[in-house]
Amino acid sequence: MFAGKKILVGVTGGIAAYKVAEVISRLRKLHAEVHVAMTKSATEFIAPLTLQSLSANPVHVELFDEPKLWNVEHIALAKHIDVVVVAPATANILTKMAIGLADDFLSTVLLATRAPIFVAPAMNHAMYHHPATQANLALLKDRGIQAIGPDTGFQACGTEGDGRMSEPVEIVESLARFFAGVEWLKGKRALVTAGGTQEPLDPVRYLGNRSSGRMGYAIAQVLQEAGAETILVSAPTDLPTPFGVTKLSVQTALEMYDAVLARFHEVDVVVMAAAVADYRPAVQAEQKIKKNGSNRTLELVPNPDILAQLGRMKTSQILIGFAAETENLLANAQLKMQRKNVNLIVANDVTKPGAGFGSPTNIVSFLFPDGRRIDLPQMNKLEVGRHLVRELAGLFGMDIKE
Ligand code: CTP
Repeated sequence: MFAGKKILVGVTGGIAAYKVAEVISRLRKLHAEVHVAMTKSATEFIAPLTLQSLSANPVHVELFDEPKLWNVEHIALAKHIDVVVVAPATANILTKMAIGLADDFLSTVLLATRAPIFVAPAMNHAMYHHPATQANLALLKDRGIQAIGPDTGFQACGTEGDGRMSEPVEIVESLARFFAGVEWLKGKRALVTAGGTQEPLDPVRYLGNRSSGRMGYAIAQVLQEAGAETILVSAPTDLPTPFGVTKLSVQTALEMYDAVLARFHEVDVVVMAAAVADYRPAVQAEQKIKKNGSNRTLELVPNPDILAQLGRMKTSQILIGFAAETENLLANAQLKMQRKNVNLIVANDVTKPGAGFGSPTNIVSFLFPDGRRIDLPQMNKLEVGRHLVRELAGLFGMDIKE
């Protein structure tokens, strides 16, 4: 699994730095190409020569050292690697990553690279639980960075608690799962819808909903990371297009319907994460509607149900729908799954704190037509997406093991 994979191990200044020698050694034994970047404080805990000998590559510490491999080394390395793992990751490096500070070799590569990043936090438990550290970790996870651990137990400072770096074998296993996951959807084509459609009333007003698009964007990102060629059909949002994803912008439910149906025959999976307006104004005024002091009635006409239409048309495609509910979550979701003929429905109660529209996190259940149900705890939307990708790989018939 690691053969030919190019891994950058970033080492920062914590006592757990000595354990990273084992991570590097294991990765090398599994035939990975390992590069190492250390912060200055990390070199106080473990000698660069040790990690150079284990990785069989020069260790980078200073930004302005004589180039060892290529010119503008931090950029060349940033482009060269398949993944970065920062282990141990101190509170300090997490802060620097969160604000995008680049003041040494490692932090500069972390800013310059587009490779996926893992961090294995390691620090005293009070530092770990400090709101600043927790906020930084939440922000980093929101950007797609994955945390390995930390573990709980005895700490070098003499206390007990969370903040111990995960064991080297666990770090290596997380990377192994990542590389397995990268292959899961290779050769598959995915279409994801996201955001809330807007149904114009006149040139300045529309009927909309509270969807931020974050769930759909997160799903598009993880599908793409899992190797699928991914198209994102998006209603208006403020979100950046995930790297490598092709985005098509639409505004209304009818535009989304046309965009999705035109591509349905080319794709293997559709994830309908968009909040599609069920109705649109019967007429769209050409000029701004003026007030006249009396009551107004708005006539609405139904929009097509995109997912239900796909459910009728599908041949071999996998269909994934969402059920955003405010009551009777599971029963309503179950009905939608049957009515729309989908392979998996993601049910979420949008009234719960930490779930649904606008929130960076979500609390969802996956429901399958065979009656299977998976209830996930509250987690970041990218993590929900990663769970969804695992299930999707299973639906494609892949043997997914932990
Ligand atoms: N959906 C769709 N086209 C619509 C409405 C919804 O494709 N016109 C999709 C959504 O993207 C979602 C699923 O259908 O994947 C369920 O959407 P939801 O708004 O929860 O349900 P509705 O079908 O609108 O049903 P209701 O309004 O009765 O809750």
